[in-house]
Amino acid sequence: MSKMISNQPSMKDVAKLAGVSLGTVSNVLNHPDIVRESTAKNVRRAIEQLGFVRNDAARQLKTGNSKAIGLIVPYSSNPFFAELAKGVESSAAENGFQVLHGNSGHDKKRESGYLRMFQEQRLSGILLSPVEDATRNITQLRDLGTQLVIVDQKISADLCCSVSVDDHYGGRLAAAHLIDQGRTRLAFVGGSLKIPQIADRLAGARTAVIDSGSNIELRAIRAEGQDVISGRLVGMAILKMPVSERPDGIFAANDLLAVGLLQAFAVSGLIDIPGEIAIIGYDDIDFAQSTVVPLSSIRQPAELLGSTALALLQDEISNPEHHKHQQVSFQPSLIVRASSLGKATRS
Ligand code: RIB
Repeated sequence: MSKMISNQPSMKDVAKLAGVSLGTVSNVLNHPDIVRESTAKNVRRAIEQLGFVRNDAARQLKTGNSKAIGLIVPYSSNPFFAELAKGVESSAAENGFQVLHGNSGHDKKRESGYLRMFQEQRLSGILLSPVEDATRNITQLRDLGTQLVIVDQKISADLCCSVSVDDHYGGRLAAAHLIDQGRTRLAFVGGSLKIPQIADRLAGARTAVIDSGSNIELRAIRAEGQDVISGRLVGMAILKMPVSERPDGIFAANDLLAVGLLQAFAVSGLIDIPGEIAIIGYDDIDFAQSTVVPLSSIRQPAELLGSTALALLQDEISNPEHHKHQQVSFQPSLIVRASSLGKATRS
């Protein structure tokens, strides 16, 4: 039986405040056409005043477990999150859960809207890959008794379970690889540093430059987003730079940005990859191996992240002894392909 301790106001509280019967409240919610408007208005005011949340899944709770969980990701068209969702789905199916998906589009308001909707549906629990720092969401949801596991972001242990990848280590791997290829003018191409994963990758790259003890330049070039178009726009800006000012090694915060950079350079016909500019991405999505120049990347175990997160959530939901939250962190790995291999051909 799912553990639900809710501080939510009930239909009884609404009926009491509005001075009507439980049946009238139910009619206002389900058959408003049969209720006098003045009475319905009075009930709606009570609902608003109490912050009552419809409980569409009440039947499920009366009869047994709600076997539905929610998965919210910031960018569902990024293959990394599709792989992560695949891991969630396969593990959910093995355990008799259904998965409702939400795409927040890196928008905090949309993320909050999905969290509220999933809470209204009284889902057994929610897996959240947050738009930015997750703390605000976690405290709000747990106060209302919603089981939550954070995916793809490490959080402080006392809030909830999380599954993530050591992105600082991943950033170090990427930059150290470019340095090992003799690159000395590095650029990190990424979106907002409010995204913890992106900030950690840049920090890791900076650590690698310091650890190298060499005279290595590392500049951060801000991309508008985390997608192919944003990568292509940065690539076009680099093409406009004087040759001597161009980077000779680029670490892209994810593979979609790297694909956009490769496209811009390939279409221009002006840049030899990796000779003039070595490029490495992050995620190692399936497409990385078949890009115009096969893309080096830092592999995240996306499917494993998803299945591990589901297993933690299931334990939260069904194990009454689950009191100590776990922060599971995986190590990413370096995957070398043609886009970054070999010494620079231009000094
Ligand atoms: O959302 C930005 C990036 O963070 C994704 O590409 C994926 O790498 C995630 O970890």
